[in-house]
Amino acid sequence: MGIASDILADWHASQAALLWQVDLGIDEWLLDEALNRYDLPEAVKPAPMLAPAVAASAAPVARGVAPLPVPDVPKVDPVAEARALAARANSLDELRAAIGAFEHCEIKRGARNLVFSGGLPGARVLILGEAPGAEEDREGRPFAGRAGQLLDDMLEAIGLSREGTTKDTAVYLTNILPWRCLGYGEPVPDDVAMMRPFIERHIELAAPEVIVVMGNTPLFALTGTRGIARARGQWLQALGRPVLPMLHPDSLLRTPIAKREAWQDLLALEARLSQ
Ligand code: URA
Repeated sequence: MGIASDILADWHASQAALLWQVDLGIDEWLLDEALNRYDLPEAVKPAPMLAPAVAASAAPVARGVAPLPVPDVPKVDPVAEARALAARANSLDELRAAIGAFEHCEIKRGARNLVFSGGLPGARVLILGEAPGAEEDREGRPFAGRAGQLLDDMLEAIGLSREGTTKDTAVYLTNILPWRCLGYGEPVPDDVAMMRPFIERHIELAAPEVIVVMGNTPLFALTGTRGIARARGQWLQALGRPVLPMLHPDSLLRTPIAKREAWQDLLALEARLSQ
């Protein structure tokens, strides 16, 4: 029996093989059959490289021709541009359009959707996550996957929901980055720095009473503090508002025992809202 038939015959082996691919970063099936995109048709294959002497005699017209001047491309400071665009936005709709028109953040090219926000603008609580994942990218709304379902359950336990219709019962949700980052690990600091002016303006326009930062990326981006495990549950201050750091629901899915701490933090949030 070969490896492939072993895997097909055994449920656990199949699951292990699937998880191994997820670990490698493969999270979407595009085609049933593998396609070698390096295998170009003959017509578009580049001509074989010639040795320099052969190449020189084969292209006499190219000799003595001055290379075309490369035009000077004006340098832009993406952070300054983001700041200017964000400052001009006078409503959440204008801010969404400004982010949509911002072309300097590379991750935008790999994303299907701009994931701007969810829930009720003006809610007392703003939940700030890191970046959309595969599911959020597909659906165009934040916290749409398993972590989002857990987050909904957690919020419901203290009488809050993204479907809430009043500012006391609803939450507003957004992320530090509005586009999915492909690959693994935390978003790169340059992308976070570039998008920070937008999130500052976003918070200003949504005007929450308190901000809950979910995980390390929004904690550091807003407060400059590192280490969510130590910071969680302690009220901090950023952008003139109280900030409560909490463990990210993704990490609660990986480490369910940590839900105990998350529950304490939810109670701290509930107590603050009832003051
Ligand atoms: N994780 C986040 O931080 N944000 C999302 O929107 C989804 C998962």
